[in-house]
Amino acid sequence: MHLIETRDLCYTYPGNVTALHHVNFIAPRKARIAVIGSNGAGKSTLFKHFNGIFKPTSGSVLVQGEPITKENIRNVRKFVGIVFQNPDDQIFSPTVEQDIAFGPTNLGLDEEIVQHRVCEALRIVGIEHLANRVPHHLSGGEKKRVAIAGVVAMEPQVLVLDEPTAGLDPQGVRDFNNFCNSLSQKYGLTVIFSTHDVSLVPEIADYVYVMNKGAIVASGTIEEIFVQMEMLQSVRLDVPVLPKLIRSLQEHGVDINMGYTFGEVEAVFLEAFGKKA
Ligand SMILES: Nc1ncnc2c1ncn2[C@@H]1O[C@H](COP(=O)(O)OP(=O)(O)OP(=O)(O)O)[C@@H](O)[C@H]1O
Ligand SMILES: [Mg+2]
Repeated sequence: MHLIETRDLCYTYPGNVTALHHVNFIAPRKARIAVIGSNGAGKSTLFKHFNGIFKPTSGSVLVQGEPITKENIRNVRKFVGIVFQNPDDQIFSPTVEQDIAFGPTNLGLDEEIVQHRVCEALRIVGIEHLANRVPHHLSGGEKKRVAIAGVVAMEPQVLVLDEPTAGLDPQGVRDFNNFCNSLSQKYGLTVIFSTHDVSLVPEIADYVYVMNKGAIVASGTIEEIFVQMEMLQSVRLDVPVLPKLIRSLQEHGVDINMGYTFGEVEAVFLEAFGKKA
């Protein structure tokens, strides 16, 4: 049984804008899934179906094998946490600490447990220094991290992040990569995220869905997707810079293996230069 599955999911916004066409998407346990696609491809619309914010126009969404109903929606939202693309849609309390406490408090948890979860979330996301700040006065990247912490504090089994690194500084992106990888490795969480930064994808995902004009046009492992340069460019995307560089060297006759993550490519180059990793 998959944690999340959509079957032939179609969605049309009021005003007759069809945003999703027959989307079949699967998120298994412990998966790290990237959803990539150009502006307007349908990523955010798809994500809003994962915990019942949107209802399919046709087709279905199953969470742990069950359709989302009025009766189970509370549990579904405990199970699937979504960080929206725009943090202003998610942050509204007078202080950061209170904002992060809002979700766990709503779950009916004891104050002590809530406090513990808030501290953990602040630590994991690396924003302890913002605990007493007014969310409204934070920078865009700081707000983004507060929104992520708010969902992490709910301790969902599936964490859905819509453009999590948009607006983050380089250290913020590194922190995000580390925290994202530790969530799946240490806690066995399933992480689903969208991004326009294709170079980030091999670092934190194992599986990729490519969307274009509301449809899934390709899906597969990092190796399967990032060899399809023409397909990616046809949907306004690109191959991450490291495999692109290696492919170019290979085309110039350099005998070098393919690599996707920084670590893999570093090892490939060290080997090519006769150095030990
Ligand atoms: N509230 C709305 N009403 C009508 N159409 C909408 C609405 N929200 C989104 N759309 C349309 O649905 C389509 C998919 O939008 P969506 O926001 O899901 O794309 P996206 O892949 O998340 O894009 P981006 O990369 O810009 O975030 C687009 O054509 C968009 O114009
Ligand atoms: Mg979006």
